[in-house]
Amino acid sequence: MTMPDEKIQKKTIPFIQAKKEKKEKIVAITAYDFPVAKIVDECGIDLILVGDSLGMVVLGYKNTIPVTMEDMIHHTKPVVFASKSALVVGDMPYFSFHLSNEESVYNASRFLKEAGASAVKIEGASKKRLKLVEALVEAEIPVMGHVGLTPQSIYHFGQFKVKGKDIDEAENIVQDALNLEKAGVFSVILECIPMELARIITEKLKIPTIGIGAGPYCDGQILVFHDLVGFSCGYLPKFVRKYVDIHEVISRAVRGYIDDVRKGKFPDSDHSYHLKSEKLDELRKKEDQKRGKKKK
Ligand code: KIV
Repeated sequence: MTMPDEKIQKKTIPFIQAKKEKKEKIVAITAYDFPVAKIVDECGIDLILVGDSLGMVVLGYKNTIPVTMEDMIHHTKPVVFASKSALVVGDMPYFSFHLSNEESVYNASRFLKEAGASAVKIEGASKKRLKLVEALVEAEIPVMGHVGLTPQSIYHFGQFKVKGKDIDEAENIVQDALNLEKAGVFSVILECIPMELARIITEKLKIPTIGIGAGPYCDGQILVFHDLVGFSCGYLPKFVRKYVDIHEVISRAVRGYIDDVRKGKFPDSDHSYHLKSEKLDELRKKEDQKRGKKKK
């Protein structure tokens, strides 16, 4: 049995919020499984989002729309198991919070009760969404907001592109962030907006802003894990910095394995189990005797 490590402090929402006051950057990342969550947690990440980007980077969908509650709970559990220190936030997938508040609060509660996350994230800031945030907070479910480019609105937007480049849209995004703060979110993701706009929002809000494609003035940053390690297939947005090309590293390893097996170089004696010589002699003798009997 593994005992909880008392030396490792679990990061909390007040801890994340205090970082804004202390002007310390919040560093967040996505994860969807145990091994990746364990690595990023051990590296000292503050917050892990089990994003519905799962659909695109792990499940191979073209957008996040098909992701289900069951997918999200299934992937949030191992991330929580692996995270000794990071705060884990579960992302509510499309249509898990669009019908009644009652059903939405129930779905959100599953992230806390079944998967062990500490908070949920929801996209958007419509009037109905703000009421839902209030209902979630009332049910003791901490909520992270998400404005700017909200990928679940892909069919509405037509394509993934920068939001808030014209004044009306920029003003709406500022208002959305303010409304979410008032409704009770503990922080807000700003996705794909001009850095100058993100700066204005960050200065106006008391809660932390966490940017993705929103420039350096946010209180924190988040990236999709697969993007920053070069493990995602297809288009990489301009805002991603690829710190390693893991696709290349894995391809090299797998090509080496294929080559070695085909040439008989793997497995070798070092990567095999062995019989002690006296046991081998005994086995050979027995097998020879069996063969002798059969010949008679
Ligand atoms: O689903 C996700 O990974 C997200 C981040 C991009 C913020 O919402």
